[in-house]
Amino acid sequence: MLYSPIFAVGICLSGNCHNLTIQRFTYRYQMHRISKLPFSFRTALLLIVPVAAGLLAACTPENNQSTFGTAGPVASDQADLFIFIFWIAAVVFILVEGAIIYAAIRYRRRSNSDKLPYQTHGNDKLEITWTIIPVLILLVIAIPTLTDIWEQQNGAPTDRGEVLNVEAIGHQWWFEFRYPDHEVITANELHIPVNRPVGFKLESEDVIHSFWVPKIAGKVDMVPLNDNYLWMMGDEVGEYYGQCAEFCGIAHAHMRFRVFVHTEEDFNAWISGMHTASDPPTAGSAEASGKSLFAGNCSSCHTVDSTAPGSYAQEISSQQARWNGWVSDIENSGIVSAPNLTHFGTRSTLAAGIKDLNHESLVEWITDPSTIKIGTRMQDHAAVYNTADGKAKLTDAEISDIATYLLSLKPGSGSTDQAMDMSSGKDVDAVELFTTNCSACHSTGDDKIVGPGLAGIGERAGNSVAGLSADEYLEQSLREPDAFIVDGFTPGLMPNWDKLGDDSIDALITYLKTLE
Ligand code: CUA
Repeated sequence: MLYSPIFAVGICLSGNCHNLTIQRFTYRYQMHRISKLPFSFRTALLLIVPVAAGLLAACTPENNQSTFGTAGPVASDQADLFIFIFWIAAVVFILVEGAIIYAAIRYRRRSNSDKLPYQTHGNDKLEITWTIIPVLILLVIAIPTLTDIWEQQNGAPTDRGEVLNVEAIGHQWWFEFRYPDHEVITANELHIPVNRPVGFKLESEDVIHSFWVPKIAGKVDMVPLNDNYLWMMGDEVGEYYGQCAEFCGIAHAHMRFRVFVHTEEDFNAWISGMHTASDPPTAGSAEASGKSLFAGNCSSCHTVDSTAPGSYAQEISSQQARWNGWVSDIENSGIVSAPNLTHFGTRSTLAAGIKDLNHESLVEWITDPSTIKIGTRMQDHAAVYNTADGKAKLTDAEISDIATYLLSLKPGSGSTDQAMDMSSGKDVDAVELFTTNCSACHSTGDDKIVGPGLAGIGERAGNSVAGLSADEYLEQSLREPDAFIVDGFTPGLMPNWDKLGDDSIDALITYLKTLE
């Protein structure tokens, strides 16, 4: 009896946790002395101590994912509740185990006599006592448990500062964050102000994920077609780890994110930066080359310019349209919802919190994303990875340029809007305009990419809509893309190009009419 707990742990450590095996061992244990077991007491201790130490190391409050070193009231209430219940359980354990051990030693068989001890049955007083005590213990535990559940499931409190609303959306295998009050959209790195409650609406665009920031809040599942809610508050400025806590497919373990808790001032600066366009690259630079390569190979899934007014709604409808396009043709789709890369150069991590972001890791990611995140949809569906070995159809220099360009995406001087800038010059380069803005989705030949091939568009445009000339049809297509959608193509995907300005739109129309 004395060795039974050690014995049970020993069985589990030896990997024999099957009822039959346990029965067999229990039988052997009863039939033989302890020395006949397949391991000694000392071996069991030698096994238990390092394993327990290894497991307990994860509990150190300094650990990035430890729920003990809390940095917000929600997480600290949960930790306090855990510790309260832990000590009650510890006292119960010591009393019950103590009674068992005492009885086992005090009343052990002392001779070889086979005489049965005095037999007894039933004790009303004892039985009532050991029924009432657990009821009282559970009552004591229920009070703070229900209070915490009430406080934490009842929406973000309005009496602890202005609530920041965030919509968090789980995707295989990354997190999208939308700030509806600020019309900001980003991915994998969440920014929140310190000491202000943040109310989350949790959604999923594919399977069930789970949203968890161990040091700041508990976890809540992100379920498709069923919004869940959670609130949290960071009370210490810093960087925190978050991760998906529900098995969601092959890259589940690689679905993480970061939470940056800022001072109110820094948070406002971040928001305002997210509304400030990047400065356009200098002609002939690596950034410029990277920009045009990005436009041609990456931009049908990744947005990089959600800074202008109206771009927030546009990005949401693009994400939805990309998702619809992927769902309607999973095998052949060249598009899939993908992380928004606006001001990507300000991020500190890559691939949903997996790697530190720098030129080297970004080159590695673009070259062969599966070396960093197996199963990534980008590699499965982007045409640029349609190769025998799955590596990008780009030279090392081209990949390096794309990485340089992406790392250059940061809030600019604030004086220019990149697209507007193009129409302010006297000589608008229509080919450059087309390459930068259109070529990711439209070929100049007959090939369909995301949108139709544009060979002969000048002639077709004149015959498309009764009453509209070719010029009028093309202009409307650029300024109001969803007015007419060519059969077989997805609405909501093409951005509104009004922002290019009149000169650029005129130049593009002239250029489009030359395509044969
Ligand atoms: Cu998403 Cu696990």
